[in-house]
Amino acid sequence: MDEPLSRYLVKNLAIKDRVIQNRIILAPMAGLGHIALRHLISEFGGFGLLFTGMCNAKAIPNENPKTSSVFKWRKEELGYLVCQIFGSDPESMAAAAVRIEQEGFFGVDLNFGCSVAAICKKGCGAALLKNPDLSSRIVKSVRNAVSIPVFVKFRTGWKNDPLFVADMAGRFEEAGADALTFHPRVAPDRRTRPPQWDMIRIVQEAVAIPVFGNGNLFEEKDGIQMFRQTSCQGLSIGRMAVARPWLFAQWANKFMPGNDIYYKTALRFSEILSDHFDDLFSVRLFKKYAPYFCANFKFGHQFLKKLVCAETMTDIRNNLISIFESNPETLPRPNINLFL
Ligand SMILES: Cc1cc2nc3c(=O)[nH]c(=O)nc-3n(C[C@H](O)[C@H](O)[C@H](O)COP(=O)(O)O)c2cc1C
Repeated sequence: MDEPLSRYLVKNLAIKDRVIQNRIILAPMAGLGHIALRHLISEFGGFGLLFTGMCNAKAIPNENPKTSSVFKWRKEELGYLVCQIFGSDPESMAAAAVRIEQEGFFGVDLNFGCSVAAICKKGCGAALLKNPDLSSRIVKSVRNAVSIPVFVKFRTGWKNDPLFVADMAGRFEEAGADALTFHPRVAPDRRTRPPQWDMIRIVQEAVAIPVFGNGNLFEEKDGIQMFRQTSCQGLSIGRMAVARPWLFAQWANKFMPGNDIYYKTALRFSEILSDHFDDLFSVRLFKKYAPYFCANFKFGHQFLKKLVCAETMTDIRNNLISIFESNPETLPRPNINLFL
């Protein structure tokens, strides 16, 4: 590796009329990118923006952040937090964006990428890519309703067609999007085959707005490779940020994790979960995080078995203590077979 990734990352980037100081962002992840994980990541720093998991646009105008687990944030993060919404109706997407602007978020992100059956069946997420006109209308409607930055996250679509991908990128830009995040996989292919990074270049070449490349960024050298291969303007990190919440600080700010980082981080996460949620829900969320955390260890599947048996947060903490008593061996690159 001849030059550090931080050379690419620590550079201002204009998004609409705002500037972020750093070109690495947390990808939206339902069930993982909640207030507690973002709180943990914020303690390490090093990112440009964080994204919420997808929120149902129809619910947002009446959503109560005190009772919702997804439409929930800390005041301190609003300046760098983007709320992602899904929906298929231009008016309700705009109404959700208005609430998001009123609450003080940095921006709103529109989901055109989710390929989960429950979302696609409703005509939302990646299903919208089958209807380019409706997709444009959704972006236009949101654009006209708010003045905060509008992001679009999308994927290759339903077949591997570079012309289609370039056309969609151009449509999103023309409809008023200020930045795109692109995940280069076709929709039925969830995370089984490697993403086709060359498609990211096609997207970035089709538009003048910044494109964040996404998909299988595991190590610093992957980040450098993605910048070089695609000319994208930034990186969007999903699962690795769950496995290693200090990764933004490590890649952008030269943060050097010590040997105790795994133990300290998991324990701290358990505390933060308990600060934001009741015990039962904290346990549920910790179990969603556990496979990514355990992927860091040589015998991670054994630790995972232990953690998923827990019934209370006290069990979780006791299990963590007993796991680390054996001084477990870590892996330089997580075992992605444990990633969901
Ligand atoms: C558990 C999980 C939940 C996800 N939820 C969302 C979501 O709500 N919205 C979205 O646009 N993408 C979602 N994604 C996709 C990620 O944003 C990202 O595109 C994908 O994980 C690939 O990036 P990675 O290889 O860095 O993980 C999700 C991914 C995972 C693993």
